[in-house]
Amino acid sequence: MTEENFIPEPYKNTLESGSCTYASPSNIALIKYWGKKENQIPENPSISFTLNNCKTITKLSFSKKQDTTHFSFDVFLANEKKNDFKPKIETFFKRILVYLPFLKDYHFNIETSNTFPHSSGIASSASGMSALALCLMHIEKALSGSMSESEFIQKASFLARLGSGSAARSIEGDLVVWGKHDAIKGSSNLYGVKYPNAIHANFKNYQDTILLVDKGEKQVSSTVGHNLMHGHPFAPERFKQATENLSQMMAILKSGDLDKFIALVESEALTLHAMMMTSMPYFILMKPNTLQIINKIWSYRKLSGSKICFTLDAGANVHVLYPENEANKVLKFIKNELAKYCQNENYICDTIGMGAKMV
Ligand code: PMV
Repeated sequence: MTEENFIPEPYKNTLESGSCTYASPSNIALIKYWGKKENQIPENPSISFTLNNCKTITKLSFSKKQDTTHFSFDVFLANEKKNDFKPKIETFFKRILVYLPFLKDYHFNIETSNTFPHSSGIASSASGMSALALCLMHIEKALSGSMSESEFIQKASFLARLGSGSAARSIEGDLVVWGKHDAIKGSSNLYGVKYPNAIHANFKNYQDTILLVDKGEKQVSSTVGHNLMHGHPFAPERFKQATENLSQMMAILKSGDLDKFIALVESEALTLHAMMMTSMPYFILMKPNTLQIINKIWSYRKLSGSKICFTLDAGANVHVLYPENEANKVLKFIKNELAKYCQNENYICDTIGMGAKMV
């Protein structure tokens, strides 16, 4: 597949107005994407757990307009008009216009809400951009007359990627790969694919409790962060390592070896942060409480033999990962020992989920 394959044939149908609603999940990467080439092409492949509870729900209403020289849309978050979201969406529309040539033919009302608290420090770009991409695909499907489910999903992921790289992994569940890896059939730099190989039962309903350490605005935007990898002294090694780590992860997903899983996932999280600490300019995105939590997790694991581990996004919040059969014990530990390091003792319980759906 090439980018040109996503330019549609002339549409067969016309459509005056309508609306649709999609719920799309957030995801948490186990092997991280950090660094990209032009057109949102990742420097290395990544794999993520799709989450079940952290979702963006977007209703897209559309009506045909006369003037087709410009984009026209309004955005609402939880019923409140959000003009500050418009530039990001305008950039997204510009990038995808060649793939969705109807975008200037309609006025859009984009009504969006998140199931996780706004300003929780949980990035909503993956769930938000994938939900919007799905709504737009819904219109394209109606205009095209026919489209297979797999074409629909693939193009939705392709478009979501152009909004926010990691959004390419937020269409399907439960484990999604984005970025070409020679040993993963169908993997592509252009869109995410459901991980096609064997997954051991140990990973069924894997749990992710997100500890909200810092609910503030992101200190470093993803755009700035990815750019820091250009000319970064460790970048070539990091991209090579991520590809090798994904090979290792494939073996772990097959064998169910949780000790190896823990070592790889935690090392990936710390490597992501190490890249930011060693770039120029440099950033420390962890907070003192992030480190308190990591140390508590390590001592709990040592004492109890639990298979608990952590991963991090490009921020201070901690994702605590553990198998389903430990849920009761680990939740008690989180409540008693970790909640105090979270802002207002807030955390969100989640599990691996099945992906986006129409609502
Ligand atoms: O999708 P972006 O451009 O916001 O990048 C996000 C990258 C990380 O979340 C830090 C890692 C990943 O693979 O999701």
